[in-house]
Formats: sequence, C-alpha cells, structure tokens
Amino acid sequence: MDQQEIISRFSPEKDNLLSILHALQDNHPQNYLTGEALRATARYLNVNLSWVYGVAGYYYMFSLKPRGRYIIRICNSPVCNMMGSPDILELLGSLLDIRPGETTADGLFTVEEAECLGICEVAPAMMINRKVYGNLTRDSLAAILNELKHKIPPLK
Ligand code: FES
Repeated sequence: MDQQEIISRFSPEKDNLLSILHALQDNHPQNYLTGEALRATARYLNVNLSWVYGVAGYYYMFSLKPRGRYIIRICNSPVCNMMGSPDILELLGSLLDIRPGETTADGLFTVEEAECLGICEVAPAMMINRKVYGNLTRDSLAAILNELKHKIPPLK
C-alpha cells in the first residue's frame, strides 16, 4: 500500500494526525516516519508542516530515523530496574550485538530503553512492537528472540 493510500484511509481532520502517523510508520519497512510522509500528512490535513514535525518529534513512539522491524523497548523505570532490567538489557546487547538506540545490521531489531510500561506487577518487562512481555529471565529473553528471528512481522 503506498503512502497516499494509507493517509486516505482517514478523514482529513486534525484529530486524525496521530492515527495517520502510526499507520505510516507501521507500514514503513524501516519502522519510521520519512520527511515525505510528514509533508504528505501536512498537505492532506492542510496544516503547518512544522506542527506535524513537532508532534512526530514529541512522542517517543514515533521515530524520524530508520529502525528495525522489531522495536524492543526495555523498561528501565524503578520497579523493573530493581527486578533486573539492567541484566536483561545487557544480555540483549550481547545477543544482538547492539546498544540501546542501535539497530542490528540485518535491520531486524532496534533496542530502546523505555519508561514504565504499566505492567510493573510482572517486572522486569519489555515491549516488542505492540506486544508486552513480563517476568523476563535470561532464558525467556533468548527464547523470545529466537522465535522472532524466524518470522518477519507483516506491514499493516
Ligand atoms: S516499572 Fe517497568 S513496567 Fe512499570
């Protein structure tokens, strides 16, 4: 589906800005918002481009630079931190050979640190794309990564 088709799924109202940006990002194989996507959105909604850039830059869930197909967000807020998220992050780095903010060479995974994901009762926790995982251990993390390596998420 091309960019204009994605945008046209929504009515041209300002209130649809976040939904349009999500749809554009989810449909980009590198999981980010291109400058052209932002310009097309601004034209469609008949709003100032700087406002669209401002919104895209404000929310952590949007990226203005290329990322992997899987965005792994490790919660580093206090409860998860106490329950071992630094160890999980370190293991993730060694399994994927990247640091937070980086993307694997094959373009599959990007690792990010995140604020509380709202599931502290199953700390340590992480989110991969829109799915959350709790009670992480070194073994469960390795198993999750292994499973994901064999299935590329479809574009939406
Ligand atoms: S502190 Fe990690 S989910 Fe709340």
